[in-house]
Amino acid sequence: MKTIIVQGSSRVDGNSYQIAKMFQEKFDAPIINLAEKKIHPYSYEHHHTDDDFLPTLEEIVHYDTIVFITPVYWYSMSGIMKNFFDRITDCLKVHKQTGRKLRGMNMLAVSCGSDATQHPGFFIPFQLSAAYLSMNYLGELHTWISRDKPEKEVSDQIDLFANRVLEVAIEP
Ligand SMILES: Cc1cc2nc3c(=O)[nH]c(=O)nc-3n(C[C@H](O)[C@H](O)[C@H](O)COP(=O)(O)O)c2cc1C
Repeated sequence: MKTIIVQGSSRVDGNSYQIAKMFQEKFDAPIINLAEKKIHPYSYEHHHTDDDFLPTLEEIVHYDTIVFITPVYWYSMSGIMKNFFDRITDCLKVHKQTGRKLRGMNMLAVSCGSDATQHPGFFIPFQLSAAYLSMNYLGELHTWISRDKPEKEVSDQIDLFANRVLEVAIEP
């Protein structure tokens, strides 16, 4: 499984990054910090063709599996990650060749909150976006960091989840 991790926290070395590093070890995958990229909000006129969105997506489609890791901000994915999803719309309208390469790729979604509470419906946008883009949705995991480091329960859950994914992943 050739995997890339896309993490959407507003801080590049925060809690989601700690979780991303744990997935990096499991999947031997590079991490993209969306906060380090200049990605404008979606424009109906497709004004922002010269920012980092397209090069970032072009890098991603070289892999067969994307792990989206987002902090829980106001019961949803972070604005940075939502912005990235909004911009995928460019690939349905303008950069269609790159957009088509998402088809058949695997998607996983991971949230990182400050406690074990998983808010209802949190993962629905990931599930439906994967279906819309004809990607294989391999599942989701809620994680949390309440103090400085993930608790053992969280690392155990990541181990279980990652091992299950490695068993079922489809290699296009
Ligand atoms: C803007 C903002 C909104 C948040 N909203 C929620 C929330 O709705 N539910 C929740 O459980 N935690 C919420 N939190 C806590 C974060 O999800 C939690 O601290 C997370 O681990 C932060 O990850 P990060 O360091 O990668 O940004 C919020 C934090 C911030 C900064």
